[in-house]
Amino acid sequence: MEPLLAACLVLPLFVGGQSLTPSEFEARVDDTLNKVLKCHPQNPGLTVSVVKDGRLLFARGYGVTDVSTNTPVTNETLFQIASASKAFAATLLVKQLERHSNLSIYTKVKDLMEPGFGFSTHIRTTNADLRDLMAHTLALPSNSYLRFDSNLTRENLQRRMPYIESVHPFRTSFVYTARNGQFHICTTPDFSKVATGYTNGPGFRHVPVSHALTRKWAIWAGSNSVLTNGIDYAKWMNFHLNDGKDKSGLPLLNAKSFAYLHAPHNLITSTGRYFRQPLVPVTTADTSYAFGWKNGYYRGNRILRHTGTTFGYSSMVTLFPDLNLGVFTSMTGQDEHYILRHLLHNFLSDNLLGVTPWLNATTMCSFPNPWYPSISYSHYVIIDRTVSASRPLSEYVGIYHNDAYGEVRVTMEGNDHLVLNYGVASWKLWPKHSHDQFQGEGQGMLFETLDIHQIKFHSSHSKIISVEIITFQSNAPPIFTKMSSSQPISSVLG
Ligand SMILES: *[C@@H]1O[C@H](CO)[C@@H](O)[C@H](O)[C@H]1NC(C)=O
Ligand SMILES: *[C@@H]1O[C@H](CO)[C@@H](O)[C@H](O)[C@H]1NC(C)=O
Ligand SMILES: *[C@@H]1O[C@H](CO)[C@@H](O)[C@H](O)[C@H]1NC(C)=O
Ligand SMILES: *[C@@H]1O[C@H](CO)[C@@H](O)[C@H](O)[C@H]1NC(C)=O
Repeated sequence: MEPLLAACLVLPLFVGGQSLTPSEFEARVDDTLNKVLKCHPQNPGLTVSVVKDGRLLFARGYGVTDVSTNTPVTNETLFQIASASKAFAATLLVKQLERHSNLSIYTKVKDLMEPGFGFSTHIRTTNADLRDLMAHTLALPSNSYLRFDSNLTRENLQRRMPYIESVHPFRTSFVYTARNGQFHICTTPDFSKVATGYTNGPGFRHVPVSHALTRKWAIWAGSNSVLTNGIDYAKWMNFHLNDGKDKSGLPLLNAKSFAYLHAPHNLITSTGRYFRQPLVPVTTADTSYAFGWKNGYYRGNRILRHTGTTFGYSSMVTLFPDLNLGVFTSMTGQDEHYILRHLLHNFLSDNLLGVTPWLNATTMCSFPNPWYPSISYSHYVIIDRTVSASRPLSEYVGIYHNDAYGEVRVTMEGNDHLVLNYGVASWKLWPKHSHDQFQGEGQGMLFETLDIHQIKFHSSHSKIISVEIITFQSNAPPIFTKMSSSQPISSVLG
């Protein structure tokens, strides 16, 4: 490592005309990022790493790993990278496929599943292949809350699949699924090295995300399971920039498999709202989805990019494959609309590309000023605890069943509160003004981190017959049908 770093100090490293020496680059980045973190107090910790021509140019931590201890973030602090894990799952899957002469990305999903496996529509059951899973062409929404069901297994997920409704015709759109595929990456991170994730609680207070929630959410998905630091992630960027070869030049994947990972497999038709001309001086465009990577352009250069967002963490990676450059950032705290990530990546990229950055510390703090007036952010929704229910609470009590999700239970807590349980999750229910509607206040590991605001009971002949939990999947809300409270059905899900 050290000889390489020493070499960095004397070589001209940057692509464009503006010549910054590596130490000038570091000084500029340090100065700017320290200022930017100060004006974004909701993001207490940040890790940044930059690679160029196979070398790690820069790996540094900013801010603190925990607001109560003020421990500084270092380039070894672990961050959860959420959906930036998808590329790991895709790489491992494609590598697995190489070993089997009768399997490829065009192998039908049904041929890998139990006999009788199906999706909600015949066209998907018959045609969906592994490429569809990795490129999000199925148009099946993520239904992420399924992760809370402790009865969920790989086997019974197959049996639940037919009940997961599609939201667009097959292969006509990009419907991003948090759980693409169900690939399991098992690691045992050292949690003492993990930067505490924070969400915005009431009044923008830092609410630490519990490790229990992090683990529960991550355990199921290749989309959410990787925790990494700036130094290790740099190796991953170099692997992708170096055509899937390791440091000694040996390919880990054959060329055809590797090409699948970055090639466009699905169109992305909606480019981000906030980082395009004429709103701002420079457009960042996403054009297509590969396997765990988006293809796009920045200042006319091809980029591969992915974001990762989960409770308490916001990550992003940008690779410039034609220039052999890569930038990775991960921070604790929320980054709504991906704004701060784009600011950081545009600023860092401009410095690497050797052009005058269109952003500086002042404008990264004032953004979207001076370019446009405002962006609307959501706030922590304060629950109104003064509303009375439209009928006696006992009428809502019961076990409710949905074929994809399993059971939710509504029980009485004390004399005056309902609690809704789903697997390991529970929410205290607060009535809304609208008839038979509630909001759920997260309990236990979900407290102040995951409230659910749209719960609607339905009735027939004035008796409650079902509950629709819109927040679980707002574009295809699951409806749970009330079972006789006296005899819970034995689940068809097994
Ligand atoms: C990681 O951080 C340490 C101490 O902060 C620093 O000495 C080292 O150079 C950094 N590593 C890289 C690759 O930048
Ligand atoms: C691939 O071949 C293996 C071993 O010959 C076989 O067990 C498996 O069913 C085949 N898979 C498919 C999808 O054809
Ligand atoms: C930052 O950028 C803005 C807009 O481009 C510019 O007006 C301002 O002078 C810059 N500030 C500094 C400190 O360079
Ligand atoms: C999991 O299985 C248990 C035992 O059958 C059942 O009581 C519980 O409701 C199930 N949970 C879900 C989410 O379906």
